[in-house]
Amino acid sequence: MNIIKLEKLLKNVFFLLSLLITFFASDIVYKDYVSNKINSCLNSISCETTDSVNTSNDSIPATKRIALTFDDGPHPIYTIKLLDGLKERGVKATFFILGTNAANNSDILKRMSEEGHLIGNHTFSHVQLSKVSVDKAINEINDTNSIIEGSTGVAPRFIRPPYGSLPRSLQAETNLIPVLWSIDPRDWCVLNTDSVVKHVVSKAKDGDIILLHDIFETSVDAALIIADQLSAQGFTFVTVDQLTEK
Ligand code: NI
Repeated sequence: MNIIKLEKLLKNVFFLLSLLITFFASDIVYKDYVSNKINSCLNSISCETTDSVNTSNDSIPATKRIALTFDDGPHPIYTIKLLDGLKERGVKATFFILGTNAANNSDILKRMSEEGHLIGNHTFSHVQLSKVSVDKAINEINDTNSIIEGSTGVAPRFIRPPYGSLPRSLQAETNLIPVLWSIDPRDWCVLNTDSVVKHVVSKAKDGDIILLHDIFETSVDAALIIADQLSAQGFTFVTVDQLTEK
């Protein structure tokens, strides 16, 4: 092998070596880049999670209040199951009762009142107050007031008009305060405990009024799970008078 050939061979070896070095070096740089990227992503995910947990823990205050309300009862079985569950948890609620269902269940109304729940009027036979005569509307309201006062000794101050409509003239005439709602999981329609719980818990915020119906077992079960989950999030359950008069 002459000197020129040796020189060429050395040049080729050197070239190959430099190629290999460049390849490995760039591979290391690339791997470092990817690994940094993954780490920063993981860090940012865990930071976000911690932040939101911290924020929610920090905002657990005595002032985070919410009202469970139940329409269309009382029901001789499900309302009692609900009252038992609420008592166990120390949770207060508001019941907008129908005169027709309350007439033979005055003991349930009495128990509601004694256990610190609020009772409001939901008319006698679930009429749409704007679609019946004024006389009929007033009778629907007054008859139900009499049943509530007769059972508990307390005259109701609040009304939830069926379908949410209360003509102004009737409001003045009856001197009842209308109470609507801010969270409606349509429990009477879905009849599914899980979906009612998810709907309410995902939307709940300070000052909300939750609409449920204690004539369905799925709704009663949902209400008790909602009470547990929102209590764990720092909510206090209050009656609607406490919410509106804070
Ligand atoms: Ni109703």
